[in-house]
Amino acid sequence: MAEKPWGGVFDQATDRRVEQFTESVSFDQRLFAQDIAGSIAHVQMLAKVGLVPSDEAQQIEHALGEIRDEIEQGRFAFRAELEDIHMHVERALVERLGDVGRKLHTARSRNDQVATDLRLWVRWATDEIDARLVALQRAFVGRCDRDADVILPGYTHMRRAQPVLAPHYWLAYCEKLDRDRGRLADCRRRTNVLPLGAAALAGSSLPIDRQDVASRLGFEGVAANSLDASSDRDFVLEFAFALTMIAEHLSGWGEEWILWSTAEFDFLTLPESFCTGSSIMPQKINPDVLELIRGKTARAVGNLQALLVLQKGLPLAYNRDLQEATLPLMNSFDTVAASLDLAAPLVAGAELNRAAIAERLDRGHLDATTLMEHLIRRGVPQRTAHGLVGRLVRKAMDQGVRLADLPLEDFRQAYPELDAGVYEALGPAKAVAAMISYGSTGPEQVKQQVRRWKESLQLT
Ligand code: ARG
Repeated sequence: MAEKPWGGVFDQATDRRVEQFTESVSFDQRLFAQDIAGSIAHVQMLAKVGLVPSDEAQQIEHALGEIRDEIEQGRFAFRAELEDIHMHVERALVERLGDVGRKLHTARSRNDQVATDLRLWVRWATDEIDARLVALQRAFVGRCDRDADVILPGYTHMRRAQPVLAPHYWLAYCEKLDRDRGRLADCRRRTNVLPLGAAALAGSSLPIDRQDVASRLGFEGVAANSLDASSDRDFVLEFAFALTMIAEHLSGWGEEWILWSTAEFDFLTLPESFCTGSSIMPQKINPDVLELIRGKTARAVGNLQALLVLQKGLPLAYNRDLQEATLPLMNSFDTVAASLDLAAPLVAGAELNRAAIAERLDRGHLDATTLMEHLIRRGVPQRTAHGLVGRLVRKAMDQGVRLADLPLEDFRQAYPELDAGVYEALGPAKAVAAMISYGSTGPEQVKQQVRRWKESLQLT
């Protein structure tokens, strides 16, 4: 049985079942690069303050580099009895360097070590997700020119409401993804603080220089309370929430495009290379990727829930429960990163079914609100105008025609001051063209927004 670094006080060997139950190396081995980076910064600091001779610190640094290469190349043996990634790296170091290796853990505990590793990992993961969000935004903005003149029905309550330019839809998703980016940036700021040096919970009686370690690792600050620093996982929860919001956004978009690509809607054709078939129905071309993007959102939500429950009621400082945070964190990251990786090519590769959309755009009286605003411009109070247009829509519905098909006398009957100019407000194209408010779907507004997005995403 491998000797435990904490074995001194024990008379009995650890039960195998305990080793299996308490191990985390099966999942925290993914922290190896962060663990080794943290150890290198730590030993460099130990040398600087004179706690480890410089030549020995160099030996340690070199050996740690070799261990990292071994792990990277899959030549490193992980074993459950060595519990976690921290003990594996340290054991490999001692096997190489003997007593010199036994100095690395000076003024450090696995508690502040895992907190440091996780912060480095979340910082990295945040940047990974951010880059994917940008790629997805680029995919949406990238199709705005292509779809510039396509008018879609806009929906509320899943009922046809008002006409909307297709790029207006695409930029709506860009806005959501931008808030996601903002959440990540905010979370990154609070994550990027060094816990190392908090040791187990109380700090150290040795003359360590935490600021030095922080700057070596690119941390923007040093955590000011060792009890908090060694046990805080707020950043994990914040990141998990930011990931969940992304998943929620993708899930809504996925649902929308699943509907849009049905025969019933017929707005959109998905790229076949991103669809799958049925084992029994030969004709099927299914939107499984979108369904799984929607479905995998459940994992992010579940993981966030698990983290919230895990942290609930934990007294200061480190408790082993916290080890359970690593898996949901990584699972949420993997899930959302994979969904984003597939969302971008789907967005870029789908085609709007222009003819089918245009053919049915006159259904649903999408221009009724613009007609009401036409009356308001003529001095009719909004509530009155709403009622008058409501009657006109009812008349058109009863006759099975569009508002634009009603004769002028019907409009005059509703409001005697109306003239033939009323027809300028009617029809989806004119209703869209009439929009002028900031952030509206008016062509000039949308053009400006597309320009702004192209600039901010460097697409011009
Ligand atoms: N594997 C542990 C974790 O992920 C590392 C810290 C364990 N510390 C301890 N004193 N048992 O939380």
